[in-house]
Amino acid sequence: MKHLFGLLTIGVVLGLAGCLNQNEHNPWMNDKEILDLIQQMTLEEKIGQMQQINGFGGEIPEHLKQDVIDGKIGSILNEVNVKTINEIQRIALEESRLGIPVIIGRDVIHGFKTVFPIPLGQAATWNPEVVKAGARVAAKEAWSSGVNWTFAPMIDISRDARWGRIAESCGEDPYLTSVMGVAMVEGFQGDDLSADGSILACAKHFAGYGAAEGGRDYNTTLIPEGELRNIYLKSFQAVEEAGAGSFMSGFNDLNGVPASGNEFLLRKVLRNEWNFEGFVVSDWASITEMITHGYVADEKNAAEKAIKAGVDMEMATTSYKTYLQELIDEGRIDEELLDEAVYRILKIKFDLGLFNNPYVKEEDQNQFALPEYLETAKEAAIQSMVLLKNEKSILPLTNEVGKVALIGPMANQKYEQLGTWIFDGDSDLSITPLEALQLELGDNKVLFAEGLSYTRSKDKAGFAQAVTAAKQADVVVMCLGEESILSGEAHCRASLDLPGAQNELIEEVAKAGKPIVLVVMAGRPLAIGAVSKHVDAVLYSFHPGTMGGPALAELLLGVSNPSGKLPVTFPKSAGQIPIYYNHKNTGRPVDKASWTCIDDIPLNTFQTSLGNTSHYLDLGFDPLYPFGFGLSYTTFEYKDLKIETPKVKLDDDVIASVTLENTGNFIGEEVVQLYVRDLVGSVTRPVKELKAFQRVQLKPGESKKITFKINTSELAFFNNEMKEVTEPGEFHLWIGGSSNADLQASFIIE
Ligand code: BGC
Repeated sequence: MKHLFGLLTIGVVLGLAGCLNQNEHNPWMNDKEILDLIQQMTLEEKIGQMQQINGFGGEIPEHLKQDVIDGKIGSILNEVNVKTINEIQRIALEESRLGIPVIIGRDVIHGFKTVFPIPLGQAATWNPEVVKAGARVAAKEAWSSGVNWTFAPMIDISRDARWGRIAESCGEDPYLTSVMGVAMVEGFQGDDLSADGSILACAKHFAGYGAAEGGRDYNTTLIPEGELRNIYLKSFQAVEEAGAGSFMSGFNDLNGVPASGNEFLLRKVLRNEWNFEGFVVSDWASITEMITHGYVADEKNAAEKAIKAGVDMEMATTSYKTYLQELIDEGRIDEELLDEAVYRILKIKFDLGLFNNPYVKEEDQNQFALPEYLETAKEAAIQSMVLLKNEKSILPLTNEVGKVALIGPMANQKYEQLGTWIFDGDSDLSITPLEALQLELGDNKVLFAEGLSYTRSKDKAGFAQAVTAAKQADVVVMCLGEESILSGEAHCRASLDLPGAQNELIEEVAKAGKPIVLVVMAGRPLAIGAVSKHVDAVLYSFHPGTMGGPALAELLLGVSNPSGKLPVTFPKSAGQIPIYYNHKNTGRPVDKASWTCIDDIPLNTFQTSLGNTSHYLDLGFDPLYPFGFGLSYTTFEYKDLKIETPKVKLDDDVIASVTLENTGNFIGEEVVQLYVRDLVGSVTRPVKELKAFQRVQLKPGESKKITFKINTSELAFFNNEMKEVTEPGEFHLWIGGSSNADLQASFIIE
């Protein structure tokens, strides 16, 4: 029977009495329509709303239809057949007792059919507009398949390149991740969640998951509360404020309490401090995995911990379905906890407009890869690629370039250029570097040789052909890296080297003596220091998605100018990890003069630590490339850094400006970055923190004054009493093109 809103039955009247009580405890539960509905629900129906099941692919099994009719399913994930979804929704609306629609979830992480650069690459654009546009396209395509909800953005701070999931993150910085996360939420959800083409976002994985020990997925995380709040929770708070409608609790054990049973995270911080009104879904089986963690003895205990902590919906496993009723009967949990969870879920279903119209109309179905979507994906890919080296300005190649040898196992891999998490990505749409260069230059000017058939291959049989191609060419472009499956969930690496015999391939090809451009397609920062010595230019493209080839061709040929900047520090080798720009100073910070190199230590050297500083004997202290770094075909000069407000009071704005000049020969875009350091804190402060950035386009010879305004509240941090405070004192401020910016000035908060 379809439920009718506002129907004043006795049940509703009784219900309202109950609702008033609820409102006293939870003033945010104030939507009468939802409260009415909850009053009509049986306990089984409430528990049903809290259950998310996995999809079935196509034909709807009879038992599932019955479960929908019985109100036992609140959500389905991984079902993307729009006809099937429409039918499920029809059954839910028309045949279930209360007519509550189902919410359809899917991992739409960096595109749906049209694939955008991996999120780490998107973060390298430092362009929230581009990122938002990408999320919008992903939302529209997914929505046209019947999907209502994506499990994105993933905004875990990732300081460890070994961790496979760094690919789906926005890198190491809380501010950049916040800006990108908010852009993604805005793109997915749009201005109106109920509008066609809008889907619900899900901030994940709450929280601390990126700090997995050793960069090994699912591993323990130990993060002191101050660090948690100052670094790991920032991006989550930002997307919460931007209206992200759902959160996902993580797999990780955080300081001894698994995230999916963590009252501190889910109840104290998310609900009580931030007043989050959306709902929390567990990660896949993360409730029952609390047994394996050794946190609870069995599923019943797991369900109890999770519901008490504040997990509203259980993904994939069924501990709620099996035990919530028993837990209530035994008085171990209060039914009010369920009402709260169901309220949150129903509220989102209303906000999504699913009660009115959960269907995708025939003419709106399966709208994929429209020309404007592909164009948006190309622009994102262009801006995501980071130029790390360009000796003798070998790039851009001109149209008169002559013959190009295109070499490498990633040069023509339609699937592998898409990256991780592309369940629905259509590799037939991909345009590879080979295809794009052939189109631009003509087939006879591109000499293609894979060298290795895939990145992990150690079979050097193809080397000779690659070297021959290099000898016949005027310039060599090598596309190396990692296949998609080498990053992403559960795909971590202990080494950051190019896999297989790729290093040897570069060395062999270099012997041909031709200029080499190295293009790296990967899901993480790779330790390419040694091989970069053999090449003249390096363009780091991450996994660039569907339009990776055309984007690369435009950059190589100078149709576009690189403007990406690294969203994460690139280590020289995995041995330097964790390495991140916003570290603490230590009592013995390093500088070049105090670095003892392993090769310079005489035999029988007497042991002393005096004069020594915090570094590795064999790797020094600096990274391969710093956070925020990225070159352009043009050059930019920063000058006249000025702080207009050298002395401010608390709550005032700090105003700083710099003049940026394009001193090269190309029109270009620069990401102007502002960093600060709080010199003395009641807890020690990072040596630099990104606080703002602007993308600026300048013509050759053009210069522009760039002004930043930061409120002193943006300089706040959590002290040891866990109070968020801005402490008066002296601050250093830098503005420049990377975290190594050297133009520095100071200001004082009085
Ligand atoms: C991942 C989540 C993902 C979920 C659903 C889990 O394994 O950790 O990020 O959203 O699966 O596919």
